[in-house]
Parts: sequence; structure tokens; C-alpha cells
Amino acid sequence: MKIAMIGTGYVGLVSGVCFAEFGFQVTCVDKNPAIIERLQAGEVTIYEPGLDELLLRNARDGRLVFTTDLETTVADADVIFIAVGTPSRRGDGEADLQYIYAAADEIAAAMKPGAVIVIKSTVVVGTNADVRARIGKARPGVAFSMVSNPEFLREGSAVEDFLRPDRVVVGVHDDAGAAAMKRVYRPLYLRETPMIVTTLENAEIIKYAANAFLAMKVTFINEVADLCEKTGGNVQDVARAIGMDNRIGSKFLHAGPGFGGSCFPKDTRAYAATGRKMNAPQTLIEQVVTINEQRKRSMATRVIEAAQKNGEKSVAVLGIAFKPNTDDIRESPALDIIPVLQKAGLAVRAHDPEARVAAEPVLPGVTWCKSAYEAVEGAGITVLLTEWNAYRALDLKRVANLMSGNLLFDLRNVYSAQDLDGTGLEYHSVGRPLVGKVS
Ligand code: UDX
Repeated sequence: MKIAMIGTGYVGLVSGVCFAEFGFQVTCVDKNPAIIERLQAGEVTIYEPGLDELLLRNARDGRLVFTTDLETTVADADVIFIAVGTPSRRGDGEADLQYIYAAADEIAAAMKPGAVIVIKSTVVVGTNADVRARIGKARPGVAFSMVSNPEFLREGSAVEDFLRPDRVVVGVHDDAGAAAMKRVYRPLYLRETPMIVTTLENAEIIKYAANAFLAMKVTFINEVADLCEKTGGNVQDVARAIGMDNRIGSKFLHAGPGFGGSCFPKDTRAYAATGRKMNAPQTLIEQVVTINEQRKRSMATRVIEAAQKNGEKSVAVLGIAFKPNTDDIRESPALDIIPVLQKAGLAVRAHDPEARVAAEPVLPGVTWCKSAYEAVEGAGITVLLTEWNAYRALDLKRVANLMSGNLLFDLRNVYSAQDLDGTGLEYHSVGRPLVGKVS
């Protein structure tokens, strides 16, 4: 069984490497020669824990190769995965499918009869059927199967998520497609991972509905946090107790500065746009999109108001990545918050363990620091924005001594009231009581 993986971005690279780890012969294809050269040299082009080891081992053993030659790769492949990007289209928020269609056209021209074509990218409902019709038209009379196989990989734990998923979802229209998916996911199947075999449309909707639901859960707890702040409640206690109800579940109930990343913002916008287009308004998710965007901005307002009240002029931001264990800054709250702080006249110093290279070009005017302690030096306010492990056990007395002011905004609720004892810091967190206020 030979697998072609079209697109070596996040999803394509992780999936390609993991299929090689399952023992298949995998060829990863990308149009960008610079990326392919780096991968051929054994350099992992994304930051993802555990990926480098698997990539090197499988490449060394000859099961994993990288090329820009789509035509030859596809002509020889039994199963062809499409894992190209589906970015948000400017303006309407709909998913831009141009890369999917371009890949489909190239695949149609090169595929062998009986090929199984699998869309792994997140695509709006109806896309798999469209692509199937398009390829059928391009190669009349040539048999092929179309499969929708959405991924549920979290950045930072994508390898683990691929190798040990809660479930695998495959949408098919014929038995050959289903049989091929059972083969490629056989190692998981043997581990009794449930495989949902369903229609193309269901698989497409499942992916969006799953992400929309999780984004809604985060947004819900963020609003509960707002209520806690106004009433003396504690969102962590509330989340813990409601999460113990199995119908609710404890995950994705961490209040914070709003969700970011390459999936939730883009997918909720696309899901809402599909609802509008199909005349099935997804009003709940429309609201989630709006609330989340406002939330990121309102976090900046909190800090600015505190700065004005206390006469502070500088802010140290700890964490730029949208979450820990990734260098990804796409739609990270930091990108919304920092420019607003700067516009209000605040000088920003920042640190992130991995994301500086990505962040520097898009956040002009920021003073970049080599460590959290260097960043807080001389700062009036410190804002903890990403819950990197490196920020979970800071010596807060040292932080307080290095700062010129005494305001700590922990927007990830990393610390507890006890951690603040004796530091002299005024501690603002999310949905929890203020600690250490000297009034
Ligand atoms: C998500 C989905 O989890 C994954 O299944 C899908 O395939 C892609 O999108 P990812 O974007 O990597 O994965 O990150 P995730 O860990 O889900 O977090 C998304 C955002 O929500 C982050 O900004 C995170 O900080 C935020 N979040 C998450 C919270 O604010 N609170 C939570 O309780 C959970």
C-alpha cells in the first residue's frame, strides 16, 4: 500500500510521518521546494513534540520520502491524501477552497485507476461530493473512490492524537473507500479505536460541529468567568463542579483570554458562513465568533485601565503562541492585545520560549527578551498570556523585585492566591477574586 500525502503543512506532515510509523510507504509532496529540501535534510519544519524522532527514523528506514513531484507520486499511489490549507476568505469568513481544487485537478490528471482520494483538510459540507464530481469529469470512465477523513489533531500533542485518537471518522460513498481506510488505520483498529464509517457529508459536518462545540464550551466558561468577577465567584471552582457532570465533561472549561490558533477561529467562522449560505443560521456559533473577538480586545482594555490608574508605562508580556508547546501564533490573543497596548502608549517587552521568530515580524516595536525574568525587568505590569510550563513556576518574589510596578495579570489562571503571599504583587486573574490589592 503506497500513500501520497499532498501538502506538508501541519496536518500533512504529522499524518504523513505517522502513516510511515504505521509501516506504510509514504511520499509527502509539497509545491514549496524550500520546505521539501529542509525535510529531505531531516529538518522538521514545524514545532511539534515527538515529531522529529519519528520523521528521522522513518526517513532513515526508507518508508518516508519528500518530493515536489506530485505527478509521479500520485501515479504510483494507492491512497492519496489531500492535506492542503483551507484558510478563511477575507470578508465573509468562508473557507477558501482554491488549494483543494487545484490539488484535485492535479491528482485527477495523474492518478491510476482504482485510486482512493482522501480529503483530510477541513472542508465545508458538500466539498467532497464536488471534488468527486470534478475528478469524475476530468477522468471519465476511470474508477476511483472519494473519502472524507477529517483530523482532530491538537497542536502540541498532534503525534499522540494521531497515534491514540478517541475515534477515527471516515466518510465514504463506496465499499472500496471504506476498505482502504480500514487498511490504513489498521494499527488503531487493532487497538480497538472506534472507526465511524459514515457518509461524505456527515464526516464534513462532524469535523466542524466538533470544533464549533469545543469553541463554544471555551466561550461559555469565559462568560461564566465574567460573571464570577462581578459577583465574587471563582470560575475554577464552578468549572470543576459542573465538569464532574458526565454530560458536561471537565475538558475545555479553562477560562482565559479567548481562543486562538489555526483551527477554532477559522472553523467557527466557516461553520457560521455555511449556516448563512445554506439558510440554516448557526446563531449560537455566530455569537461565539463575535464574543471571542471582543474578548481578546477587552483583555487589552483591562490592562490599559490598570496602567492608567497606576500611572504605569510599560508591560511585560509572557507568551505569544496561542497555546503552549507550539510556535504557532495564528490568531493568538497576543496579536490582538499587544498592538492595542502599544496604541495606548504602553511600551511592550515580551518573551516566548518558541514563538519569537514567527512573532517578531508581525509585532513591530516590541522589545524581545531571552527569558521571562529579563522581560519583567523594569515593567510596570506583567501579563501572562500563554501557559507555558516555564511560566508555571516563576519565582514571583524575584519577578516582583525586578518589576518597577506591582501588577500581575495572569490571564491563564496559572497561579493561586497562596503563590502570591509575601510578593507584594497585585494579582488579577480571570474569573477569580483579586489578590493583594493595596487600597
Ligand atoms: C483544536 C482542536 O482541539 C483539534 O481537535 C482540531 O483538530 C484543531 O483545533 P488546537 O487549535 O491545536 O486544536 O488547540 P486547542 O488545544 O484545542 O486550543 C484551542 C484554543 O482554545 C487555544 O487558544 C486555547 O488556549 C483555548 N482554550 C482551550 C481555552 O482557552 N480554554 C480551554 O479550556 C481549552
